[in-house]
Formats: sequence, C-alpha cells, structure tokens
Amino acid sequence: MSKYATLPLNTPITLPMHPATKTIATPSVPPYRSDPLDSLATQSSEIMILHSQLLIASTLRAQGVFGGASPSEVRAHFERIRDQLSPNVPSDDLKRYSDIRSPGSQMMHLFLSLCAQVPQYLSDRVGGSLPARDALDCLRDEARTRKFLEAIPESLARIRNTNPSGQVHVVDAGCGPIPIMAIAAAWSDPGVYVTALELNPLSAELAQGIITALDLQDRITITCDDATTYAPSRPIDLIISETISAGLLNEPVVAVMQNLSKHLTARGETLPTGIDVHLGVFPIHQFESPLGHLPYNGLTALLAPTELARIPWKATSPLSRIAARMAIAPCHADSVACAWLTVRLGDAALRMNESLITTPTLVNCLTSDKKIEPLIINALPAPTSIAVFGEPGGPFLIGVLPRNE
Ligand SMILES: C[S@@+](CC[C@H](N)C(=O)[O-])C[C@H]1O[C@@H](n2cnc3c(N)ncnc32)[C@H](O)[C@@H]1O
Repeated sequence: MSKYATLPLNTPITLPMHPATKTIATPSVPPYRSDPLDSLATQSSEIMILHSQLLIASTLRAQGVFGGASPSEVRAHFERIRDQLSPNVPSDDLKRYSDIRSPGSQMMHLFLSLCAQVPQYLSDRVGGSLPARDALDCLRDEARTRKFLEAIPESLARIRNTNPSGQVHVVDAGCGPIPIMAIAAAWSDPGVYVTALELNPLSAELAQGIITALDLQDRITITCDDATTYAPSRPIDLIISETISAGLLNEPVVAVMQNLSKHLTARGETLPTGIDVHLGVFPIHQFESPLGHLPYNGLTALLAPTELARIPWKATSPLSRIAARMAIAPCHADSVACAWLTVRLGDAALRMNESLITTPTLVNCLTSDKKIEPLIINALPAPTSIAVFGEPGGPFLIGVLPRNE
C-alpha cells in the first residue's frame, strides 16, 4: 500500500514528492521554436489526450518554458489564458474538450509544468475521493473555470468593502491537484489567506508543489482533510467549493457547505452562492449524445421545468434528501425525466449544459428484480405525475410513477 492511503487527515502537506514517484519520460521533440505544442499536438491520439497533457507539461518543464519562469511571469501568463477561456463551451462539444491546445488545456499545462515531477500513477483512487487525474481535467471545463474565476474577485471585493484593511480568510474546499481557486483568491487580494482542503493525498501533494513553485506557501496552506467534517481555527470570510457533479450526485458540495457555513462571518459569502436543482421531461430520442448528456442544441422540454429544490447552505438540520413531484400528461409517453443544476455564482450562473456539472442526469427506477435502470415514461395507463427523490452526493435519483392516483 502506498503511503498515501495512510497519511493522517489534518496534516499540512510539507513533504517533497514521494521518492517512488517516476516521471513520465520526456518525449523526444524538436527544439522549441515558435510554439512547443505544434509537434506534440500532431503526435497525440484522441484516446491518449490526458496522457498527452501530462507529456506536454513534462516537456514544457524540461524545456524550461514555464518551469523556469518567475511567479509574476506565471501569473501574467495565467491571466492571459484565463481571459481566453470560453464562457460557453457546450458540454457535448467533444472536439473542444479533447483539444490539447484549447485555453483550458493550456491552463492545465501551465500549472502542471510547475510541479517538480508529474507522477505516473495519477489514476490512483485514494480514500474514495476524486482521482487526481479526473480533478486535473476540470480545468478543461472552460465555462466552469472561467465563471468561478470571475466570481472570486467579485466576492472578495464585496467582503473587502466591509473589512478594508484586515486579513480575509478563504477556504477552498476540494482544491484539487491544481488549486486554481485558492491561487486566484490569493492573487486577487494581498490580504487574503487561504486554507485549501483536499481529501486526496496525491492531489494535495501536487497542489503543494504548485503553491511552493509560485511562492505562495505563506498565503495558502494546503491541508489534507475532509471538508465535510473540518473545523477551521478561525472564522471564514469566503468558502469556495467546486465539489459538484451533475445532478448533485456523487460529490459532497452540500455536506461541505453545510459543515463549513457554520463558521462563516456575518458578511461571509459562498461560491457557489447557491445551487438550484431542476426537473424536466424530455423525449427519449433526444438523449443520444455520445457523452450520455443531452445535446445542447435542439433540446425541448416537454413541460416547463419544475424547480426541484433550492439547496440551503445554512440548514438548521442536515439536508439528507431532495424530493419533488411533477405533473406529466399522456402525451409524454416515450420520454425520460432528467434533473440538472443551475450553479449560482454571485450575479452569474452556470446553466444547463454550460458545464459538465450542469448537464442533465437521467432519473432512474428500481426494477422488480432490484436493478437500477433509466426510468422510461411509457406506462399504460399513462401516469399523471412522477415523484423523484435522491440524496445529495448519492449515486442516483430515483423516480416513481404512481399508477393509482
Ligand atoms: C471537481 S474537483 C475540483 C478541483 C479544483 N477545485 C478545481 O476547481 O479545478 C473536486 C476536488 O475535491 C476533492 N474532494 C472531494 N471530496 C472532498 C472532501 N470531502 N473534502 C476535501 N476534498 C474533497 C476531490 O478529491 C477533488 O480533488
């Protein structure tokens, strides 16, 4: 078992890269001329995209393209790439997601190339948290990254209005291997100090390497801990947590926010500001995107979508269940029910299909032989309503079609 599985929680990460870490061999490429990505781009095959990303980062570091850059040069480069991130890449645009030259990919290369070593075992699943390799990939979800990065300085400016000269304490809960939100907060305001929590020890270690390379270690503390139970030693002015998955399933944002928001100052803020869950009924033939998401264009809800839940961060009792009932009509035969999120970020929002975290998720049903299957609305006699319920962070939403109403 690697040391990562046994690293105690609540440990500030100060270790150098694990000695067993192997770097990915730097591929032989022509010397850097105008654009180091040119030759590598043509070498990459579609199915090896992420591996290529790591090779590119490794190569850029070996060539000293970013690795030798000063923190201020990296920051200038980061700001240039940030401004190129698209605010509206449809989540089923596979070409954009697999383009190793897209601004989202470039941002990933920039930060990865600062790590002392890029480990080969990025796919390790440690402690039930998101594998580091999947968390890295989040940077390529451009609308998500862009809208969070725009919302952070806006929130901090509001907090600054009420606290013109004091320190501002930000908690980035689930900072990932590239602690992009923590870095953006620290660079937005010199009085910001960030506690960056990460459950996956490998991700925490990579994050620490990046923070050290950027000389931000006095302002950002990477801590390997569980944000759903973590108790901060001082009040929090801003909680940032992108621990969100489509349909509010699988990832713990609700539990994280309900735990940490108890420690918010009176004027404290959260990002997301809130999350709304919507429920809609769609013709089954629309559910055919290669990613298993509904296509962005041509989507027609058969009914005005119902708002399933507005998630209260500051709940008096823990929110353990989301539940709603929606009316349906006989004409809705051969359709499916889906839930999706609106992620509110101050005055902005990530809406349906603008990000992988806002794609619709199929509502499932439990079959008589106890299997989970997509719920197809084609029952006869036609049902008049559907009841949907699920657990935030749970594996699926379950729909029930009552027959005798
Ligand atoms: C979707 S990634 C986002 C990473 C990064 N913040 C970003 O926006 O690019 C979510 C991260 O949260 C971490 N995570 C999940 N559950 C957590 C928990 N309970 N406490 C701390 N971190 C957690 C995962 O390991 C993963 O690295």
